[in-house]
Amino acid sequence: MSHSPLSFAQHYHERTKYSPETLAARAKSLDWAAQPSSYKQYPLGTLIDLQPYLAEITTEAVARDKQLLARLSRLLINTYGLTARVSGMGGEPFYLRAAPSAGGLYPAEIYLISRGTSLLPAGLYNYQVRSHGLMRFWDEHVWQTLQKACFWHPALEQTHLALVITAVFFRSAWRYEDRAYRRVFLDTGHLLGNLELAGALADYRPHLIGGFADESVNQLLYLDANEENAIAVVALADLLQVEQNLPSGCTALPSGVASDYPRLADGELLSYLHTATQIPETEDTNFYRQKSPPAQEKTTSDKYNFPFCLKASTLTSSISWGESLQQLEQTILRRRSTRRYSGLDLKFEDLKSLLHFAYQPKDYAEQGLDRQPDYFDLSLIETFVAVSSVVGLDEGCYYYAPQAEELRQVRFKNFRRDLHYLCLGQDLGRDAAAVLFHTADLKKAVGRYGDRAYRYLHMDAGHLGQRLNLAAMRLGLGVSGIAGFFDEQVNEVLGIPGDEAVLYITTFGQPR
Ligand SMILES: Cc1cc2nc3c(=O)[nH]c(=O)nc-3n(C[C@H](O)[C@H](O)[C@H](O)COP(=O)(O)O)c2cc1C
Repeated sequence: MSHSPLSFAQHYHERTKYSPETLAARAKSLDWAAQPSSYKQYPLGTLIDLQPYLAEITTEAVARDKQLLARLSRLLINTYGLTARVSGMGGEPFYLRAAPSAGGLYPAEIYLISRGTSLLPAGLYNYQVRSHGLMRFWDEHVWQTLQKACFWHPALEQTHLALVITAVFFRSAWRYEDRAYRRVFLDTGHLLGNLELAGALADYRPHLIGGFADESVNQLLYLDANEENAIAVVALADLLQVEQNLPSGCTALPSGVASDYPRLADGELLSYLHTATQIPETEDTNFYRQKSPPAQEKTTSDKYNFPFCLKASTLTSSISWGESLQQLEQTILRRRSTRRYSGLDLKFEDLKSLLHFAYQPKDYAEQGLDRQPDYFDLSLIETFVAVSSVVGLDEGCYYYAPQAEELRQVRFKNFRRDLHYLCLGQDLGRDAAAVLFHTADLKKAVGRYGDRAYRYLHMDAGHLGQRLNLAAMRLGLGVSGIAGFFDEQVNEVLGIPGDEAVLYITTFGQPR
């Protein structure tokens, strides 16, 4: 056993950094024949077909007794449903989904747990993405087991439905190896971003439950934990049922901190990290209350202020999502990652609108969106923006201060060429007009949530990333996430403080 001052999450982060040397050494060709399927199949079960409800996108048109299914259909299609067919390897049809996914590998699965209603008897359901249906594969009452596994989280007291998001790690690790863990959680964050917004369309308020006994939830869903693991639980409060609308509970509980770990070979890091981030079962009914971090720890304040730096206000008016949020739904269903930018400018007004939608949800309450949607802990996440060509804003790297709603310049330079290199030579980095970085102080995050912080940070960064994606689509801009970058060089080149670990990149520009 080696003694290291770093927790395992920090160690994993160090070990999975890309650098010009490690990436060259790792370069290998992919065995496409070994690619796992992105679809889960059940040999036994009853399929509830949600397809008929797709045409009836307004719930009013559906007979009252079928409204629950219509709402679930809408919730699921907008969260993770198939939204486009393209030509894949060898000309085979390949389906893209409402949520983006690194490499289009779609490691996440969605399960629905019903406490029991006439249309949806108690039991376990898997969202069958391909057929847009719910596969009922277990028909016992499991709600209490779920409550116990989630340490009696208050959001599950009055609600009748919950989703569990799981990950089949190998779907992503097949290509991205150990670093896949980061991408799986970023992907899931995007999915949760859709879920938050789709909730507003289908009258559900999703309550995130990040602290649960991992093994118990895996067992509840009959998962083979060597392949698939629960990574987020979401209680769905029915906005049409007053008694279900409780105050938000605590979204994130800590795991332990693994600081005494063996020397691991490449290829062993992902599964070790997942084990290190788990929370064990407990009989202690006070666990949730005792482990919830005090609210004041989570209050957000702008972390960086630089004396005499250039500051630019980002105050702006809200993006309009149309009557009954129609434009939001259309935007979710037609969202795509831009594959090429033209290199042309963005307007500063557009950049302001992107930031405004992602970081100022309170200003969207009057359009029917949640004024304070659940994140695991946004107070741990910082945002930096490298501006290459935005009309009305000097080029350079900026810190975005969400409370003051302003950009504060860190470094003045045009980074186009550097960004190309930092994004592993991807043209998206070079041709984007602006490139946004989500970062976190890992040591501080682990101090608050143990190694499990690593999960929360990546899901929150993905969630913000999804709001940014949708805002960009609505404004007619191009957008794409990037999860492969030279970690340390990003900080050095752009002037981002050294203790900010880069989690994720979102690029914006004019699509070609
Ligand atoms: C976490 C994450 C990382 C991504 N990284 C890259 C990337 O490095 N380069 C890239 O071109 N696209 C990247 N993408 C975009 C995906 O390739 C894209 O989502 C996927 O092909 C599905 O297409 P769609 O987003 O149009 O539905 C990323 C997406 C996500 C969610």
